Amino acid sequence: MRVPLMAGNWKMYKTAREAAEVIRALRADVADVADVDVVVCPPFTALAAALEAARGSRIAIGAQDCHWEKEGAFTGEVAAPMLADLGCRHAIVGHSERRQYFGETDATVDRKVEAVLAHGLTCIGCLGETLQEREAGQTLTVLERQLRGGFARHLTSARLVIAYEPVWAIGTGRTATPDQAQEAHTFLRGLVAEVAGGDAAARLRILCGGSVKPDNVAALMAQPDVDGGLVGGASLDPASFARIVKFRG
Ligand code: 13P
Repeated sequence: MRVPLMAGNWKMYKTAREAAEVIRALRADVADVADVDVVVCPPFTALAAALEAARGSRIAIGAQDCHWEKEGAFTGEVAAPMLADLGCRHAIVGHSERRQYFGETDATVDRKVEAVLAHGLTCIGCLGETLQEREAGQTLTVLERQLRGGFARHLTSARLVIAYEPVWAIGTGRTATPDQAQEAHTFLRGLVAEVAGGDAAARLRILCGGSVKPDNVAALMAQPDVDGGLVGGASLDPASFARIVKFRG
């Protein structure tokens, strides 16, 4: 069975000191949880402090992005081996904000996923349609293009996780309904089966993201193909994220 995974994406929030405080509170709140994987992804500058605060707990720390090369003249970038060396275990790749504001494409996502996996990290690869695409009836076409373009070569890796985050649900308070999430997740899992086989499809964890909150997480997690959440705003507060981790009540 797929172990549920709850990942917090802190985006551009929290200094190192603030991050350590939140992780300390969170680790106390989730100390009694044994059956859910918990990941927090702070900004690069807070990774070391977060790792220190999480040491010996069940909270894994991840980055929000990384470059595809292992080193080089790429001012401002951070490479996968640097993250692995620091103690990170995960990296998010292809978040819609990176696609929207920083020119991320399916081709760069593909290269980044390769780098993340090659350096022993778990990749949380994101995809999802915009409101315009959904309203034009293109949701499944867009998901197929993103999955094939960014992830097809990597679907047999046990360290790949996919996060379906409809862009219209991110930071808007509008969540995909459980049925909408299930429809997208089933479609994606079916595609994975077609591209990489039934075993890869059955193993792949598909997270749901976009305004996941303590009061809607249980209904989303009740869907058979929803294996966890990628949580933005509601992961910034330890009590709120702990309630999401404890979605079973
Ligand atoms: P919110 O939970 O704030 O909508 O953000 C979702 C997200 O983008 C997580 O990666």
